[in-house]
Amino acid sequence: MELNGRTAVITGGASGIGLATAYKFAELGANLVLGDIEQGPLNTAVSALRDKGFSVIGVQGDVSVESDVQALKEAALEEFGGAHLIFNNAGVAAGPTIGTAKKVWDWVMKVNVDGVINGINVFVPHFLEQNEGHVVNTGSLAGLGGVPGMGAYCASKFAVVGISESLFHELAMRGSQVGVSALCPGFVKTRIFESQRNMPSDLRSYNESPDARALNDLGSAAVSAGIDADIVAEAVADAVLTNKFWILTHMKAAVRTTEQRLEWMKGSGPTTINLEGATQP
Ligand SMILES: NC(=O)c1ccc[n+]([C@@H]2O[C@H](COP(=O)([O-])OP(=O)(O)OC[C@H]3O[C@@H](n4cnc5c(N)ncnc54)[C@H](O)[C@@H]3O)[C@@H](O)[C@H]2O)c1
Repeated sequence: MELNGRTAVITGGASGIGLATAYKFAELGANLVLGDIEQGPLNTAVSALRDKGFSVIGVQGDVSVESDVQALKEAALEEFGGAHLIFNNAGVAAGPTIGTAKKVWDWVMKVNVDGVINGINVFVPHFLEQNEGHVVNTGSLAGLGGVPGMGAYCASKFAVVGISESLFHELAMRGSQVGVSALCPGFVKTRIFESQRNMPSDLRSYNESPDARALNDLGSAAVSAGIDADIVAEAVADAVLTNKFWILTHMKAAVRTTEQRLEWMKGSGPTTINLEGATQP
């Protein structure tokens, strides 16, 4: 799908992968609607993009609330007269499998999974009607294989990958021109391991066990050693332009994870997870 003159809606657009992709799409001629739960960073992102002459508006909201996602579509139609791409990207990370309160699991699932479902429910009917559009859902390498210390996150990202594959097959069965991509990066230098900044305040105390903190520190170190978000943005734009489903910015780790899982299913024991291997392409 062309991006020039089209309108792209990006959730979690104020930071990290979403913001880097906003710049890339804008350089390719797209109008932008950035959604984010954080008003301050959203205002900063919108001003910086406007200073470069790009067409962009920001709409504050929570992706787990369907009416907030609906507001993104309405803003796109009102401001730019159309909506052609939804990047369901907003996400949070928290909590190991053992010892994480159910309320924290619910928060991760609501943002990471309900956010994607809401994006699909709001935008896909519109894309089908105009027989043009593209959906990019942000999964993760943690959606291709289980990772220690990230139970809720893995659950949510496996769901995102599964939803994306189902959507791909449903669109193919209809012979639709609407495209879908699943973005599954390894570690990327962003603020993902500071996700608690967006955690509802009544949940914060649940996430402060020594185990949770230690694993968070491990994840933060891996993120610092990860790739730049610009590289991810390039890959996302390429997948939209060439209608590619898998966006695997850390190809070696993605293939290794998948092959090892297959061997495990076939009867060989699981190998230990190598987080360092997931930091570089
Ligand atoms: N950074 C990595 O190593 C990595 C790896 C794989 C996948 N991802 C995924 O990439 C996506 C983007 O994260 P990032 O790494 O750029 O982190 P980030 O924290 O820099 O950006 C996430 C953005 O989402 C926003 N957000 C959080 N909760 C929200 C909500 N309820 N509604 C709307 N916006 C909300 C945040 O305010 C932030 O601007 C996430 O889905 C994340 O899981 C990240």
